[in-house]
Amino acid sequence: MHKLVIRGGNPLLGTIRISGAKNAALPAMAAALLTDETVVLENIPQVRDIETERRLLAAMGAEVELGYGRAQHRTTICAAKLSQHPEASYELVKTMRASSLVLGPLVARVGSARVSIPGGCAIGARPIDLHLKGLESLGAKITQEHGYIEASAGRLRGAHYRFERITVTGTEDILMAAVLAEGETVLENCAREPEVVDLAALLTKMGARIEGAGTSTIRVRGVQKLRGARHRIIPDRIEAATFLIAGALTGGDLMLTDCDPSHLGTLLEKLKQAGVKVKVGEGSVRVMGDAAPLEAADISTEEYPGFPTDVQAQYMALMTQAQGTSTITENIFENRFMHALELCRMGANIRIEGGRATVRGPSPLSGAAVQASDLRASASLVLAALVAEDETIIDRVYHIDRGYERIEEKLRGVGAQVKRIGEILPRRVGV
Ligand code: EPU
Repeated sequence: MHKLVIRGGNPLLGTIRISGAKNAALPAMAAALLTDETVVLENIPQVRDIETERRLLAAMGAEVELGYGRAQHRTTICAAKLSQHPEASYELVKTMRASSLVLGPLVARVGSARVSIPGGCAIGARPIDLHLKGLESLGAKITQEHGYIEASAGRLRGAHYRFERITVTGTEDILMAAVLAEGETVLENCAREPEVVDLAALLTKMGARIEGAGTSTIRVRGVQKLRGARHRIIPDRIEAATFLIAGALTGGDLMLTDCDPSHLGTLLEKLKQAGVKVKVGEGSVRVMGDAAPLEAADISTEEYPGFPTDVQAQYMALMTQAQGTSTITENIFENRFMHALELCRMGANIRIEGGRATVRGPSPLSGAAVQASDLRASASLVLAALVAEDETIIDRVYHIDRGYERIEEKLRGVGAQVKRIGEILPRRVGV
């Protein structure tokens, strides 16, 4: 198993190119199931979840080509010949919960889907009941047996459906089902994340008729058939946020390019409040971390446009180095503080009570052997290691490989001392 070995203390200086958004790429790939024509996706990040999705789509009969060399971030998908009884196996779903994103497209296109019920997850229960209720409202019949959800339908019918709680992949799943349903669908209390907007943009290029993506009410007028399209995935706002925090934390001067600062609003506000200097450009953000000592600033995670739960762990690492006491409240997932215990092992002063963490800083951190528990928790440990004294060894790096493209190369490129140890794998994702 791979480990990252990080020696802290270097300020990060230079430029990092931000990759395409994993959480926009995954629904976009699932959307290719909606047409028998070819869908070409650009700016696909080379991360492990993308390879998992490739295997998932291929298992259903889709041809998925992940590009090589100069075309390495392009993925071409043709779902002309789909299995009549497509299945997302437990093997795949257990490694990536976003596999449930194939439910909506499959029921809409083939009229049948069998998807393993996702089990528990390191950050919370994460049920998919709202996806199922949404599909039922469009006329699908759902049964559960042997750990699998079986969904079937003739042509779906447009309906009025209100999500009981805001769900990102739930919104995407039902949106993909509704685009081929007969008549009009109105979805209320939808997620407003940029990834939902990006999916709607792709679906629109494919011929779907969608209004309101990015607001809480989405209206869809169903069409008979969708066509192929070419689409460029939006930049990864969570990767950008992680590197912004890395720049601030190490007192560096980092320029992030190929990103969309308009997706980073709440974080940029918080960083300013914490005394970090940030400069927004066109498709770029620069962070200058040495301006003044960091100050504690509270956050509370919320659905977009609020502070993202996917940046909470990284922000906690930042607050361990800030003057004063900050309160970090996690409202989206019930168990997303696993990183706090590892940060404490490195010397942080963090107290957890229910969904609230109190961080007292600044605490000198010292390198230790720590374990990644999920994707963003691992990012938080990498950040802490960058300012810790001596060496930190992060185990279970496969978590970070699910969502960060070549993180150690990007960090090394701006002066961090990071190396990967363990079995040597070929560079290309997919092995
Ligand atoms: N929920 C339900 N029922 C459902 C669906 C969700 O109760 O049917 C609950 C969840 O348990 C959670 C809350 O609603 O408490 C919000 O979950 P949501 O469905 O929005 O999460 P998701 O769609 O499964 C996506 C991202 C996550 C990100 C969350 C929240 C993808 C592929 N994943 O997950 O990303 O944390 O939205 O923003 O888009 C990550 O990238 O590290 C990651 C975990």
